[in-house]
Amino acid sequence: MLAQNLGPTQPFPALDDTTPERQLPHLLAAALAARSRAYAPYSNFAVGAALLDEHGRIHSGCNVENAAYPEGLCAEAVALGALVLAGGTRVRAALVAADTVHGVTPCGGCRQKLREFADAGVPVWSADAHGVVARHALGELLPASFGPDQLGPR
Ligand code: THU
Repeated sequence: MLAQNLGPTQPFPALDDTTPERQLPHLLAAALAARSRAYAPYSNFAVGAALLDEHGRIHSGCNVENAAYPEGLCAEAVALGALVLAGGTRVRAALVAADTVHGVTPCGGCRQKLREFADAGVPVWSADAHGVVARHALGELLPASFGPDQLGPR
């Protein structure tokens, strides 16, 4: 897509810091670093997440469990909190890293949390310890979703 020839008079599409593919190596590094901080003594399943915001900044998070098992926080939720705290309002890309062969995709609850700040086309990459293993659009992971636009009057 980016290498498409648009002819001599048309500029190539702008490739800025909010371009997801351009930030992929940085998203992967941030998610893996976050994963190394995971607090997951109950599941022993460490997860790291990294989110690209509308300013080209990357925010990361790890899962944070506790003794009351269902009350644990997913890595994506922690990363979203960091994004909002930093003044971000949109998610342009997400990457989730875990040490599994096929990588992990966000759980159902996190798909909904991401959907609040991300368009359906936003890439959600899955990675293992070695690199990216899958890419889905958020809209594939959460089709026909409920969102803020549906809260308005009829
Ligand atoms: N987990 C995440 O942090 N993100 C995901 O996308 C999947 C699951 C966490 C929750 C829990 O701490 C552990 O992984 C096992 O489910």
